[in-house]
Amino acid sequence: MTPRLLPLPLALAATLAACNDDAQQGPPEALLDPKTCEECHPKHYRQWLGSMHAYAADDPIFLAMNARGQRETGGALGDFCIRCHAPVAVALGKTTDGLNLDELPQHLKGVTCYFCHNVESVEGTHNNPLVLAMDGIMRGELADAVANEVHESEYSPHLDDSTIASGQMCGSCHDIVNGHDVHLERTYKEWVDSFYDTPDPANPQLTIYFGNTCARCHMFGSAEPIADYEGVKSRSLRSHMMVGVDLALTDFPDAELGPQLVAEQTAESDRQRMPSVCAGLCVRPADGGGTDVVVWLHNEAQGHAWPSGATQDRRAWVELEAFDGDAAVVRTGVLADDEPVDAAAAQDPTLWVFRDYASNADGAPESMFWNITATEPNLLPIAAEAGLKYDKTTWRERSWHVDGPVDRARVQVNLRPIPHELVDELADEGLFDPAAIKARIRTNVAGSTQIEWTPDTAVMTDYEGPCVYSASCFCALANESGACE
Ligand code: HEC
Ligand code: HEC
Ligand code: HEC
Ligand code: HEC
Ligand code: HEC
Repeated sequence: MTPRLLPLPLALAATLAACNDDAQQGPPEALLDPKTCEECHPKHYRQWLGSMHAYAADDPIFLAMNARGQRETGGALGDFCIRCHAPVAVALGKTTDGLNLDELPQHLKGVTCYFCHNVESVEGTHNNPLVLAMDGIMRGELADAVANEVHESEYSPHLDDSTIASGQMCGSCHDIVNGHDVHLERTYKEWVDSFYDTPDPANPQLTIYFGNTCARCHMFGSAEPIADYEGVKSRSLRSHMMVGVDLALTDFPDAELGPQLVAEQTAESDRQRMPSVCAGLCVRPADGGGTDVVVWLHNEAQGHAWPSGATQDRRAWVELEAFDGDAAVVRTGVLADDEPVDAAAAQDPTLWVFRDYASNADGAPESMFWNITATEPNLLPIAAEAGLKYDKTTWRERSWHVDGPVDRARVQVNLRPIPHELVDELADEGLFDPAAIKARIRTNVAGSTQIEWTPDTAVMTDYEGPCVYSASCFCALANESGACE
């Protein structure tokens, strides 16, 4: 090839630029629409439709908070929120602030199939730095996908759960730094700082213990064909439900399907949550007389803190009761579904809450992202090294003192994804009925933390006296005597 010595004639340059523009018109419109995928990938479609990814730009709390933010900042918020909640619409220039979502077709909203499967590179660690190829190629973990007439296929490490690159893909959207440099949501940072993103040096293929990616934990596989298409054999179909702690608070996508999808997500999320946190409950004589009721908690099955992500909105708390005969001598965190956690915490200084305490420039509590200037987390952490997974520093302990004896106690850890106060705060945007929304906010129970102590069920431990532990704490206990692993 002859090196080009002279500048291109203007006309030719203009023609090339026009060609480039054409190329950037993007992929065939049909590929942007998840309904197109449904034809051959019906299971993926349904699982995704029930997920928070599909609902991300229809979430009434999101819409109200973005509207408030645009008004309060005089538009300076720009595409900050919408670049994660409707990234394809932003990439195509169809919205700059999310205030026109009503006018956009549904297939440009939410985190769509096309968005994840067209990621070409990851250019940062937070605030969605993902760059799309904007071609018609669907990237996945297969290098030998059976050809079809709708899309080309290609292997990409960003969509292969056995690579760190796949964690970067999910993670850089699950990590938010706001305009005041506050690291507001830190799921990715927590994972990077933990042992889960560290391959075993002796065996670089990620393994359960040394390395575990977002997709490994959040996308279980089942052996079956991944497309309804001729010539396709059984492979591993990865769940696209991607459950966490949130559920749709509306009948998204419609009144008939919405409740079914919420039921499916609820069941899957309860299953995923079952081993997530583990608890110990000990009842022992106190040094100066009376009894101490001690609760131990450990982040057992997450690759990040518990809770994680929107921790300024999460309210996780300990529900504990201890009895002397019929009399309740300790009673904290026993809340009815319509009782707000913050109000209860104001009344009960012993209420043990896990969340981020976010505040504004005046030092007052703050829940609007753009006003938050500082945040103080109180979360169940994840160890930095695999060998420290059950280390004492990763456990959290609190004790309640009783003057007399205790003959029975029970504990459980609950989590409400969104505080009732935030719903009320956003209600004057006029976008939803706060009572209807609050009625749909479910309180999750971290299943394995639900335990009961009696002298008969307790086992004697070296440090804490007679204790009862969640079944999933087996390894933690065994570790103290060096028996595990
Ligand atoms: C006409 C049928 C058809 C449609 C429509 C279709 N696909 Fe596929 N897709 C297939 C087939 C066939 C395979 C290969 C399956 C195999 O090899 O086991 C596949 C494979 C894939 C893969 C894996 C690629 C890889 O290399 O790992 C992804 C990702 C994918 N499709 C996403 C999508 C998305 C997103 C849509 C909608 C925009 C879509 N597909 C629409 C038939 C289709
Ligand atoms: C070792 C397994 C594991 C890994 C690795 C993992 N997660 Fe999770 N994650 C969980 C479990 C279990 C829960 C459920 C917690 C619950 O329901 O109480 C969860 C919850 C979540 C939530 C909801 C948290 C909340 O409190 O709002 C998000 C979001 C999430 N994960 C994203 C990610 C992302 C992104 C990554 C990778 C950077 C990742 N996860 C890696 C196991 C994992
Ligand atoms: C949040 C990102 C994300 C979204 C949204 C998403 N996918 Fe995927 N998808 C993935 C990842 C990651 C994998 C690969 C996991 C692995 O096997 O390593 C995958 C795998 C696949 C595969 C390959 C087979 C399999 O099950 O592993 C198909 C086909 C597919 N997705 C189709 C879809 C369709 C259709 C939609 C929309 C209805 C969709 N995806 C939405 C991230 C996403
Ligand atoms: C474009 C940015 C983006 C990417 C990429 C992305 N997510 Fe998400 N994810 C979101 C948003 C936004 C929500 C929440 C939507 C809402 O609730 O309004 C979400 C919600 C979730 C939840 C549910 C959280 C809850 O509280 O219930 C899980 C779990 C999750 N994502 C996991 C993943 C995994 C695993 C990947 C990679 C395969 C991934 N995400 C990739 C933006 C993204
Ligand atoms: C970097 C990507 C990103 C940005 C920027 C972002 N979000 Fe999100 N958003 C997410 C993810 C990821 C989740 C799910 C987090 C989780 O479940 O822990 C989420 C969850 C939510 C939820 C679900 C309810 C809740 O609190 O759990 C609301 C509401 C929300 N975001 C509103 C906003 C608003 C308003 C803005 C702008 C001020 C914004 N988000 C900016 C990625 C983002």
